[in-house]
Formats: sequence, C-alpha cells, structure tokens
Amino acid sequence: MLLSMDKIIQPAMNDQYGVPAPNIYNMETVAAVFEAAGELRSPLIIAVLERYDLEMLADIAKIYSGRFPQIPAALHLDHGNKYESIVRAIRTGFTSVMIDRSQCPFDENVRETKEIVKMAHAVGVSVEAELGHVGMGVSYQNDPSAAFTQTEDAVRFVQETGVDCLAIAIGTAHGRYAGTPQLDFPRLKEIRSRVSVPLVLHGGSSTGDDNLVKAIKLGITKLNVGTDLFTAGINAIKQYFEQEEFPVGSIAAQKNQLGYKQATMHYMTLLGSHDKF
Ligand code: 13P
Repeated sequence: MLLSMDKIIQPAMNDQYGVPAPNIYNMETVAAVFEAAGELRSPLIIAVLERYDLEMLADIAKIYSGRFPQIPAALHLDHGNKYESIVRAIRTGFTSVMIDRSQCPFDENVRETKEIVKMAHAVGVSVEAELGHVGMGVSYQNDPSAAFTQTEDAVRFVQETGVDCLAIAIGTAHGRYAGTPQLDFPRLKEIRSRVSVPLVLHGGSSTGDDNLVKAIKLGITKLNVGTDLFTAGINAIKQYFEQEEFPVGSIAAQKNQLGYKQATMHYMTLLGSHDKF
C-alpha cells in the first residue's frame, strides 16, 4: 500500500527508530526493496531521483506495492529540483516529494518550499526540504558548497514552511568519502530538541554503522542511502560474470537484485525498522 511518507516517519520518530530510504532506479531494485521490506517486516521509503523516468518507476512501484499489500510504503521524489518534475511526480502517484533549495539563500528556500507544501498538501502528499547543504563525498575535505544546518534557522524554516520533515547537514556527504566522515552529534541533538518534525540524514553510504546508530539514537528518523546499495548490486553481477563460463543476462539481473537486497536489509536491521507490522 502506498502511503504518504508522514504515515511512515511519524511513528518512527515517536518510537525512535530509523527508516532507510533506498535510491532505486529500475525494476530489479524496486523488487529488491519490496522483498527486503517483506522479509524483515519493515516499512519502506522508495526514493527516486529526478533524472529517472518517474512515470515508469511509479508504475513499477505500484505493481510491487500491489504484490506486497502488507508493506507500508511511500514513493518519494528525492532531490526534486525542477518545479515541473515535482508536479509530474505528484500527478503520477508519488506520495512524497523533496524540494531541494538547499543551495539558495534562506528566504528563497522558504518561499519555494512553501509553494510546494501548499500544492502537495492539497492532495495529501508529504514534503521534505533541506536546510544547510549536504555536499559530495569526493570533495569532502574541501567542499565550499557544504554548509552545516544552524539550529535557529531550522526552527524558523519548519515553522514558516510547514514541511513534514527536514534534511539537515551535520557532516555527512553523498557518495564515497575522500577522508573520514566526522558527524557533529551535539548539533544534531540540539536541532532535535528544538524542531518538531522528523529529521532526515542524506549521504548514508560509507558513513559507518556506529555513526549511523548514534545518529538514529540522537534523533534522525529517515536515512537516505544509495551508493552502498548500487555497489553491492554491481559487485554481485561482477562476481557472477567472473565465475560463470556462460553468463546469462537474466541471471545477472537476479544477482544484481540479490546484492542490492542484502545491502538494503543490512540498513533496515541497523536502523531498527524491522518487525514493525
Ligand atoms: P549515498 O549515495 O551517499 O548513500 O547518499 C544517498 C542520498 O543521500 C540520496 O539523497
């Protein structure tokens, strides 16, 4: 069943567990996340980046949510940038959207997020926004675009926009890190104590299990994770091609699905989203 994302993250925030939001990009990865959620009885947030075919992936997600009706799942647009993509996502059945104006000045971020909240809430769709900016791991040591979230700004931002959840920047980065991730846990604790909505952490991959467990404990509710899952899926295909004398494409796709699924299950278990229905 596809639900708006707040139906998944509000209970998670109340019960202090995290829910991973795996980035999917084709049928195998959608199948993998539903199988993982079904086996572990975990709620599911299916995250789709704007650059993919939103209509096709929504159709696939609807087919799988029909096959796994017991799983509370949200179909979420990750890093929505273009206004048109956000409208298209809502129109095609996404139950949650992110508007990412994290590189804009505060007032512009507020104004544009508010506009999306008004439209999305009119049709029961949840909205995530980002304040501060989570940069790229490849430039982790020296990324001029990365900016930590300021607590006072976060309080004002949530009040003024009415967003359902807020992505914050506390030291994670997207993709693999050049260097060691250093998370600002006191900042997280302070933001959690002042902001009412669930908090989101982007750049889950390679951040380290201990860091992630601590982040959940201190108040993160949704964890975005992509690179580690793609890597696990691709490694499973590579291994298959290296081992088999006559590798078959359809089996390679299954191997990819399995590698991706196992990595997803790791994050569900780590964050404590299992056994929830
Ligand atoms: P990683 O690829 O680093 O896990 O980040 C994913 C993400 O934050 C997508 O929004």
